[in-house]
Amino acid sequence: MARKKIALIGGGQIGGVLTQLIAQKQLGDVVLFDIVEDLPQGKTLDIAEASRVDGFDVNLKGANEYKDIAGSDLVIITAGLPRKPGMSRDDLLVTNAKIMKSVAEGVKEFAPNAIVIIISNPLDAMVTLFQKVSGFPTHKVMGQAGVLDSSRFSTFIAWELGISVKDINAMVLGGHGDTMVPLVRYANVNGVPVMEMLERKYKDAAKAKEVMDAMVQRTKMAGGEVVKLLKTGSAFYSPASSAIAMAASILLDEKRLLPTCAYLNGEFSVDGYYVGVPAVLGENGVERIIELSLDAEEQSALDNSVAAVKSLVEDMERLGF
Ligand code: APR
Repeated sequence: MARKKIALIGGGQIGGVLTQLIAQKQLGDVVLFDIVEDLPQGKTLDIAEASRVDGFDVNLKGANEYKDIAGSDLVIITAGLPRKPGMSRDDLLVTNAKIMKSVAEGVKEFAPNAIVIIISNPLDAMVTLFQKVSGFPTHKVMGQAGVLDSSRFSTFIAWELGISVKDINAMVLGGHGDTMVPLVRYANVNGVPVMEMLERKYKDAAKAKEVMDAMVQRTKMAGGEVVKLLKTGSAFYSPASSAIAMAASILLDEKRLLPTCAYLNGEFSVDGYYVGVPAVLGENGVERIIELSLDAEEQSALDNSVAAVKSLVEDMERLGF
């Protein structure tokens, strides 16, 4: 069986970690593409030289020309600027839209059959733009945000409860911005609702709610918290790991249920937009959207988040993209 070919567009911080994770997990051969000369060649050489130590056997290649991504099964895009302290993801819109347009044209020409995962911000708008420019089927184009936001939420819950994060299940839906929707009611520890655990811990429902509210707020702002500490860029280890979970589900046809920025055709009362929702990922890309029953408060939070996504997409269209 031929090995899968994975093209990574953007050889910066996230692109480098993606390469290393793909190699270590032997998910396929990698072409790391960047417009900066020598950068992707240097990173892939460095990682390849760890192959004996790590015991992986895949081909890693750096590239500055799109023709080298020909025949890719999967493309993961991180091309674009990251945030600096004080910036919101939306502040990246104009710069990254220009970059995403050129990336979509290159991928369309040389890897027309690929499934595409986008990480570049502002995420929901970048996914929308890539699909529009490439004309790829909507189920083959998706964004990574929810896996990371959910992992962040789960991490905070694990720390608070003093229970292994492996046993925490929590999901964040909506757009990848300050309006994202961590689903408190569905968060559980191997089936036991997190709120029940918090109420048991604090023996006080109001205090439990206060603690949960703080975790929800920290989740929404978690990207900014890292930017503020790093000062020179945004999070890169956890976004890379999150995209790899999605990539593995697609390449190995695992059919995992992962929160994904996916195109909606009426699900969750959203028509014609990319928004973060639970989706089954397999060899065909986004294979199914799983609708959840939301209560009035959850639906209104999701509506609010969808409104933010729509307004960003409209801004982008007004700018001519
Ligand atoms: N084509 C390909 N690569 C490009 C292009 C382009 N047109 N323009 C810029 N790049 C490359 C840069 O040269 C750089 O190496 O994209 C890379 C981005 O890497 P970093 O600046 O290190 O950013 P990173 O932390 O990897 O984040 C990338 O993901 O999470 C989002 O907000 C983040 O939009 C940002 C993206």
